[in-house]
This record gives sequence, structure tokens and C-alpha cells, in this order.
Amino acid sequence: MRFSMNPAFVMLALKIAVIAVTLLLIASLTALARGNIWLHGRINYAFFALTLTALIGLEVIVRMLAPALMSDYLESKGATGMLRTHLMFSMPAAVLLFFMLFTGLKRYRLVHISLGVVFLVLWVGTFVTGVIYLPHQ
Ligand code: HEM
Repeated sequence: MRFSMNPAFVMLALKIAVIAVTLLLIASLTALARGNIWLHGRINYAFFALTLTALIGLEVIVRMLAPALMSDYLESKGATGMLRTHLMFSMPAAVLLFFMLFTGLKRYRLVHISLGVVFLVLWVGTFVTGVIYLPHQ
């Protein structure tokens, strides 16, 4: 428990989770580019479930259980502002995920693709600010 609550470890786990689901997203877009809409949808069910699990499981619960631990850690690294920037990308991306799933399932093509472009921009922001700029040691 002490180990899992180590903020640097939590940060590393989150980064690995973000990298893993990003690989899934790339796979789903590759399937789409090859015309396999069915596979795009299937992979994105997993992407949706895993992304929200990582978000709720780590970002939210950890901040509820031990918010001081995390903010002390980020402050000691001078990364409080970076977390805020990261959340500006990741939180809207998480909300958009529901609309992506819904519009994909309903085949609201134009809305789904338009939101998809916005989602991709937010996801790149989430990845860069989270995986590259937030400290994990
Ligand atoms: C990020 C960029 C994305 C683009 C450009 C994109 C594009 C598309 C396109 C073109 C279709 C086919 C729609 C049609 O022919 O009517 C589709 C279907 C679908 N998409 Fe996406 N999508 C993206 C992301 C996502 C995400 C993040 C999810 C889920 C969270 C998702 C879930 C689905 C589902 C469930 C379908 C229907 C699959 C089926 O009917 O078997 N997509 N998408």
C-alpha cells in the first residue's frame, strides 16, 4: 500500500497506462484507415473502458484519497502548473469520449469525425503534457 501510494510510482503507472491506450487508439485509427469500421469500433470499446478506468482509478481516486501527497510531490518538482495544463487537455478529452462512443455507435458520421478531430488534438495535448512533461521520479 505504501508502495502504491508513492506519488512517483502513481505517476509512472499513469504514464504507462496513457502510452498503452494511445497504442490502442493508433490501432483503431489504422483499422479505420483500412476500411475496417467494425474493428475500429471494437478496439475503441476497449480504449473507452480502459481510459476511463485509468482516469477514475488513478487520477481521481488518488487525488481523493491522498490529495496532499500528490500536490506536495508536484510542488516539490515545480510541476503544479503543468498538472493544471495537463488537466485542461485530459478532462475535456474524457468528457468527449462519451460523445465519441455515442456518435460512433449511432453512426452520426459527420459529428463523429468532427469531434474526432477535436478529440485527437486534446489527446495529443494529454499525451505530451502528461507523459513527457509531468515528473515521475
Ligand atoms: C479520434 C478520431 C476518430 C475518427 C476520425 C473516427 C472515425 C470514425 C468513422 C469514419 C466511423 C464510421 C462511421 C460511419 O461509417 O458511419 C467510425 C465508427 C465508429 N467509431 Fe470512430 N473515430 C474516431 C474515434 C473514436 C473513438 C475515440 C471512439 C470510442 C470511444 C469511436 C467509436 C466508434 C464506434 C463505436 C463506431 C461504430 C463501429 C461500428 O459500427 O461497428 N471512434 N469512427
